[in-house]
Amino acid sequence: MTEPKKTIPQQGDRGGDQNGARGSGRDTAEPLLKVTGLVKHFPITKGVLKRKVGAVQAVDGLSFDVRPGETLGVVGESGCGKSTMGRLITRLLEPTGGKVEFEGRDITHLSAGAMRPMRRDVQMIFQDPYGSLNPRHTIGGIVGTPFKLQGIEPEGGVKKEVQRLLELVGLSPEHYNRYPHEFSGGQRQRIGIARALALNPKLVVADEPVSALDVSIQAQVVNLLDDLQDELGLTYVIIAHDLSVIRHVSDRIAVMYLGKIVELADRTSLYESPKHPYTKALLSAVPVPDPSRRGGKSDRILLKGDVPSPISPPSGCRFHTRCWKATEVCRTTEPPLIQLAPGHQAACHHPENAPDQAPGAGGAGARETVELAEAKGSTKAEGAKETTEAKASKETEASNGGSGGE
Ligand SMILES: Nc1ncnc2c1ncn2[C@@H]1O[C@H](COP(=O)(O)OP(=O)(O)OP(=O)(O)O)[C@@H](O)[C@H]1O
Ligand code: SF4
Ligand SMILES: [Mg+2]
Repeated sequence: MTEPKKTIPQQGDRGGDQNGARGSGRDTAEPLLKVTGLVKHFPITKGVLKRKVGAVQAVDGLSFDVRPGETLGVVGESGCGKSTMGRLITRLLEPTGGKVEFEGRDITHLSAGAMRPMRRDVQMIFQDPYGSLNPRHTIGGIVGTPFKLQGIEPEGGVKKEVQRLLELVGLSPEHYNRYPHEFSGGQRQRIGIARALALNPKLVVADEPVSALDVSIQAQVVNLLDDLQDELGLTYVIIAHDLSVIRHVSDRIAVMYLGKIVELADRTSLYESPKHPYTKALLSAVPVPDPSRRGGKSDRILLKGDVPSPISPPSGCRFHTRCWKATEVCRTTEPPLIQLAPGHQAACHHPENAPDQAPGAGGAGARETVELAEAKGSTKAEGAKETTEAKASKETEASNGGSGGE
């Protein structure tokens, strides 16, 4: 079975102005979602008495807004807390601390019963289009489930509405009685999207919505999400580890490292003038799609070492063990996330593109943590990417019996 034919978007080709805001007055609009000091620590217990011996600090003090109609992209290495954040804001997980407000209402500790009406407004799309669809249910049953759960009878009946949704996501209404195994990965993700849209939500949180798909299919699904946003006025939080996908879909981008947001800015500012060294390193490792620019010298920053364990994160700035600019203050004092330019926040004592960043200033002693690679061609670029996307310590899951997957 092949994907329906749609225009495949090109890298960097996206509707809307270059500052990332497609709706007028979005900056001044009341946030749809407001997150303040959000914390999730998973306890680590020992023995039959389940004595608490520590905690995985998966998310540790996130604050951000999501404005109506925008797409906030969330990016960071594996294990930095992206999925945990997504589950906290959709209230699939109970926060340890902080506050989540949706349309001005505090939903941080709402019970499952009190959350039920809110579930219509806040929906999630998962990474795995295979695991997230029940293989024993027909497509009609899967996409129609939200109506049953909410006790809603759409005008014209559930079947008609489900068929409309299937068409909306580029599938045929005739797929109603088929089963998930009859569909390709891309089509399954379309089914997951149709299910998420069934109740006409305001906010859709998509956790790695395309990372399980072939690159060509990824573009089609990204394009579909984009079209649906324009058509239905949706607001998205899109989580991804791939900076090319994030660049394509996002109006604003939050960069996470070890449970914290280290930089938050509109897309253009972030890509053209990153302020946090970690963002700079991530961006330097993105392969250049333009063949005419390949082969030239480029300063690729290869971060050495793995992401430290979130059980005992480094003191001060959590990035100091891998940062080439680290000084004493970085090791002792945590830098707050502050505004360094209009709409551009970063958490760094020695930000990039700042007055104290003359060549040679600060952190020379830490340079051995980094290599500036004069990499040539895409092969080396991929290698660089792999290095920066080093896996977070898996000991946390082993010791806790927890799972970071879906
Ligand atoms: N239920 C859980 N119990 C214990 N630890 C957990 C649990 N869920 C996640 N973690 C840990 O919290 C940290 C953040 O995990 P999370 O899944 O949010 O990361 P992520 O950024 O989504 O990573 P990936 O890119 O690999 O999906 C990881 O160290 C993970 O092992
Ligand atoms: S310069 Fe210091 S504060 Fe900034 S990222 Fe590096 S270690 Fe952290
Ligand atoms: Mg994840």
